[in-house]
Amino acid sequence: MTRPSRSRSLLIIAAVAVAAAVLGWMTRPDTRLAAAPSAPAAGAFAEMVAVTLPERLEPAEQRGQAVFSARCAECHGPNLGGIDGSGPPLVHKYYEPGHHADMAFVLAAANGVSAHHWSFGDMPPVEGITRAELIDVIAYVRRVQRENGIF
Ligand code: HEC
Repeated sequence: MTRPSRSRSLLIIAAVAVAAAVLGWMTRPDTRLAAAPSAPAAGAFAEMVAVTLPERLEPAEQRGQAVFSARCAECHGPNLGGIDGSGPPLVHKYYEPGHHADMAFVLAAANGVSAHHWSFGDMPPVEGITRAELIDVIAYVRRVQRENGIF
């Protein structure tokens, strides 16, 4: 009679889990008053640099934004503002076209980057990204840079 007793103990475990969840919910801290109106939306995290995003993007820039979100944002920040501990802001004087030309973006994605400007560590190569996707990413990055006085 192993099966019925196993299922009975599973039932007990499930009941305990539900009770714990209900108890946790009932005793949850009330965050409604603590949240200031200017607090970032749930799931948002602070970038290192405050970035102004353009109101409208050209089609290529929109495509670049989508690729950037999928392949670069985890380190460089969804708005290119950098993430502490992960990667630098691309909205930064270092990355203006005169210092890091478009080719630097192509090479960074293809070969990765050895840490030299910052102490985040190396950037790994971005696997499987196409040249066409990178051209759109560069269009997007340059647009956001210009919007923030970096050109
Ligand atoms: C896993 C984290 C990570 C991802 C993902 C990532 N980067 Fe980076 N990237 C870095 C770090 C860290 C540096 C800074 C290296 C340094 O100079 O210290 C960097 C530097 C760069 C540079 C400067 C290159 C140079 O020559 O100095 C460019 C351009 C760049 N990244 C573009 C991109 C683009 C475009 C993507 C997406 C296609 C991307 N990165 C994805 C972490 C990342």
